This record gives sequence, structure tokens and C-alpha cells, in this order.
Amino acid sequence: MTHWPDFVQLKEVGPRDGLQNEKRSISTDDKVAWINMVSDSGVREIEYSSFVHPKWIPNLADAREVGKRIRKNPDVFYSALVPNQKGLEHALEAGIDGASVFMSASETHNKKNINKTIGETYPVLREVIRDAKQEGKHVTGYISTVFDCPYEGKIMPEKVIRVCEQLLEYGVDDLSLGDTIGSAVPTQVERLLEVLLARYQKEKLIMHFHDTRGMAIANIMRSLQYGLSRFDSSLGGLGGCPYAPGAAGNVATNDVLYLLHGLGIKTGIQEDKIQEASVFIQDRLGKVLPSKSLAYHLSTA
Ligand code: HMG
Ligand code: MG
Repeated sequence: MTHWPDFVQLKEVGPRDGLQNEKRSISTDDKVAWINMVSDSGVREIEYSSFVHPKWIPNLADAREVGKRIRKNPDVFYSALVPNQKGLEHALEAGIDGASVFMSASETHNKKNINKTIGETYPVLREVIRDAKQEGKHVTGYISTVFDCPYEGKIMPEKVIRVCEQLLEYGVDDLSLGDTIGSAVPTQVERLLEVLLARYQKEKLIMHFHDTRGMAIANIMRSLQYGLSRFDSSLGGLGGCPYAPGAAGNVATNDVLYLLHGLGIKTGIQEDKIQEASVFIQDRLGKVLPSKSLAYHLSTA
């Protein structure tokens, strides 16, 4: 019999990873109302926006206003994406509990995403991590393209480990491993986790699956079997990476909750509130979100 974790912590990344790639922009008022709804669902962490250059991600240009206006639920940890010192300055002004720095295991994706080689990125992130820690903030290090890169193909685990080692040495508290283009199958997850879990505690690892080919749930199952208990997900399956053409959104929070609760794993999250918040954003975006559990919910409502 598989021994499942008793509790799984989901980080809701819809307001960041989800909205960053949407064609229709959402008003700041609607973002604030939506994040407040999610804050009341029992979710423990929300990545509420991204402090990148607005020219690169125009949909999140209001990150500071969103951060200042959302009602901070004391039971929720609010984090945001931070690429550099300027981003950190803005994030601290807006209010964050945690900063998420990000880079790629693949050289080409790193360059396209943040306009720097991997070597040029390290000193920037080292300073951001140091300063965020000095401010008493938790820091997560995202690593993109840990399985496959849209430009370079397969990424060997050694490349991922090299980035993990650097970020941990700089002081990140944990690592979020991105299947950026949603291409991995469970054997790839297995291969990477075998290598990573020989070095790092499972509590330090968060899995971040995009669901381009419908493999995310299978990959989460495999990760759970390795004892991992932290995952990123997005309401309704919203999102994608603007610098990974064709990549779909993150695995839908709605679908992960159906799986976890069905397995008897606690999350603290109320599924009906997640469905309600998904309907809210689906209406504002004027499109049907890909979550199957949301579609079922709507068909029976
Ligand atoms: P750059 O142009 O190389 O930056 O962009 P720079 O340092 O050369 O500065 C150029 C100008 O930008 C300067 O202004 C800076 O002040 C300004 P000027 O002096 O010319 O007037 N600037 C900024 N302004 C506002 N906020 C900032 C900022 N930084 C510089 N933070 C940069 C480098 C990283 C900023 C840029 O490439 C960028 O914003 N990239 C964003 C890419 C992005 O958001 N990608 C999607 C998120 S990552 C993702 O989705 C993957 C993930 O989900 C995991 C997975 O799925 O794998 C996390
Ligand atoms: Mg992502």
C-alpha cells in the first residue's frame, strides 16, 4: 500500500502564472476581489503577482497596487515573483511574506525569459536573495525547464542540480521545480527526484507542473509516491509561460483538490470556494478554463 502524505500544501499561482499569459487584461479591482476570494478558501499560500518589467509582462503592471490593496488574511502566506533588486524594492513596498526568484536550468530559456545567461543571472539573484533574507522574507527559488526546454530539448538532471546548488548556497529556503512546457511523463519525474532526493530533504522541494499534454496529475501522483507534499497549481488551469511557446497553464487547483481529497489527503482548502473563484475569473476573462473538475461542477450546478 502506498503511504500518502497526510497533508499537502498547494500554492495558488493563478494570479501570477495564470494572468501573466492572458490576452485579455483584468482590472486591478477584479484582481483584488478575486485574490480576496481565494484568500478565504483555506489556501495557505498565494503568489499574488510579479514584480518584473511591465514591458515584458503588461498584465501584471499593477503588481504594487494589487499588493497594497488585497486584504491580507493572517492565515495566508503572500508571495510574488521577483527578478532583481528593482523588483524586490517594489515588492517590499507592496508587501510580501516571501519573494520567489527565478531562473532556468536551460541556457536558452534563461536568456529568452530574463535576458541574461545563467552565469550573468547568479550575481543578480545572490543579491536579491541576500537582501530579501535581511528583510526577514522567505525566499523560494524557481527553476524552469527542469525536464525539457522548448529550445534545447532534454535537460539532464546535472544541469538542474548545478542551479539548485547555487541557489541553496545563496540562501533560498526551498526550490520550485518547473515543468515549464508541460512535457514530462512520470518516468522523467522519477529520474529527477531520485537524484534530487539523494541530496535534498523532500520538504525543500515544490513541484510546478504545467499541463500542456494532460500529464500533470500523473506527475503529481508520482511525486506524492516519493513523499513530496508541496505543489503549485492555478485556479481553473489558467496560464502559461510567455517565453515557452505553446505551453499551457499550470495544473488546475480544482483537479488537484479532487485528486488529493479523493486520496484522503488533507489540504485545508474548500473545493466549493475554489470553484466559485474559478467561475469569477472565467467570467472576467470571457473564456472557458481547462479544468475538468470545474467543467463537471458547472454541468451539475
Ligand atoms: P532587462 O531589460 O535585461 O533589465 O530585463 P535591465 O536590468 O537591463 O534594465 C532595463 C530597464 O528595465 C531599466 O530601466 C530598469 O530600471 C528596468 P531604464 O533605466 O532603461 O528606464 N527594470 C525594471 N522595471 C521594473 N521592474 C523591474 C525591472 N528590472 C529592470 N523588476 C528583466 C530583465 C528580468 C527585468 C526582464 O527580462 C523581465 O522582466 N523578464 C520577465 C520575464 C517573466 O516574467 N517571465 C515569466 C515568469 S517566469 C515563469 O513563468 C516560469 C515559472 O512559472 C516556473 C516554470 O513554469 O517553469 C516561474
Ligand atoms: Mg510556470
